[in-house]
Amino acid sequence: MTTAASRGLDPEVYRGDFPILSQGVRDGRPLVYLDNAATTQRPRQVIQAMVDTYEHHYANVHRGIHWLAERTTELYEAAREKVRQFINAPAGEQIVFTSGTTGAINLVARSWGDANVRAGDEILVTEMEHHSNLVPWHQLAERTGAVVRHLPLTEDGRLDLAPFDALLSRRTRLVAVTAVSNVLGTINPVEEIIRRAHDVGAVVLVDGAQSVPHLPTDVAAMDVDFLAFSGHKMLGPSGVGVLYGKRDLLEAMPPFLGGGSMIRRVTLEGFDPGDVPARFEAGTPAIVPAIGLGAAIDYLAAIPADAIHEHERRLVERAHEALASVEGLRIIGPPPEDKAGIVTFTLGRIHPHDIAQLLDRHNIAVRAGHHCAMPLHRRYRLSATTRASFYFYNTPAEVDALAGALDQVRQVFQRRK
Ligand code: ALA
Repeated sequence: MTTAASRGLDPEVYRGDFPILSQGVRDGRPLVYLDNAATTQRPRQVIQAMVDTYEHHYANVHRGIHWLAERTTELYEAAREKVRQFINAPAGEQIVFTSGTTGAINLVARSWGDANVRAGDEILVTEMEHHSNLVPWHQLAERTGAVVRHLPLTEDGRLDLAPFDALLSRRTRLVAVTAVSNVLGTINPVEEIIRRAHDVGAVVLVDGAQSVPHLPTDVAAMDVDFLAFSGHKMLGPSGVGVLYGKRDLLEAMPPFLGGGSMIRRVTLEGFDPGDVPARFEAGTPAIVPAIGLGAAIDYLAAIPADAIHEHERRLVERAHEALASVEGLRIIGPPPEDKAGIVTFTLGRIHPHDIAQLLDRHNIAVRAGHHCAMPLHRRYRLSATTRASFYFYNTPAEVDALAGALDQVRQVFQRRK
């Protein structure tokens, strides 16, 4: 059967929707935006949904009796429903709007963690985690006396699952793992990890920042306990993200931030918390960003499932081939078939910041540094790398432009020797 994914996604169908991709011309060179793992660009439909809200439908949510507040509340709650459908969550109450992935993980660490983790308990992370899925667990361990342990990485950039069973025990309260590495692009076997962690009674939090925007996500099929992701990495605005949680876990969690909206009743002596998800959305939320995220999901949901990943895999294959011809270039991470749309590399002894700066002269945007994953870089005896990261609007010609520019970077440094 020929599926939309196997026919291939044509990025040109979508590029016209993204004003920045055509307006980003510098010195006659069009913008080649390959920093999508840091943040994606927004299509006109998302920008317009936010402008429309500010122009026609803006008031505070869950408070007003007037029609404008009711309309804004409807739009905000409709965005929650879109998120629910997008990840196949059983109920809208299980979708908590947060400030982003970092906010979502910190919420779990503070709320679920403080209530459930004790001295001597263990939290299992992996060596490839972003700092946002490491530091909150270190902080929880500091507060409680728990111990943070980690799954190591193989030389080719995968999780080494061999010691997993030995690391898991009845003391393991939580396993925190990313679905896709923001540096290596590795797609992790999260369903297997969840199954094995559940066998010892551990709760699993999946960092979906780099997976939800790129791969079909079904929280019910995954049987994941918590999933965190960000709006701005999936065409939405920054300032809004999502925590999905299993209902029994969320309902047992105390609120973390106190304030308006999250209560049922307040007296001078104390308070009763509200229901989920309001209990975790204290204060005026990111109203317009959440509505923008809803519009982003409308846009993404119209692209055939799997087509985004399939397109990005082709770009990654092309990048692996084209970059192999650049003398001295070494890609860090597994082969294309096991990756999402991320290609991270070193180029001889040229500092990644110099590489990124020279690529910028070609109007090619990449990220350089440790990508908020210092333990991962230490594992590979590196202090920094350069990362190109793709989305469905990137083209094979942009991959070729990257390879050509990298060869010129190499020549510049060769001449300087
Ligand atoms: N987490 C983002 C990245 O990997 C910012 O670049």
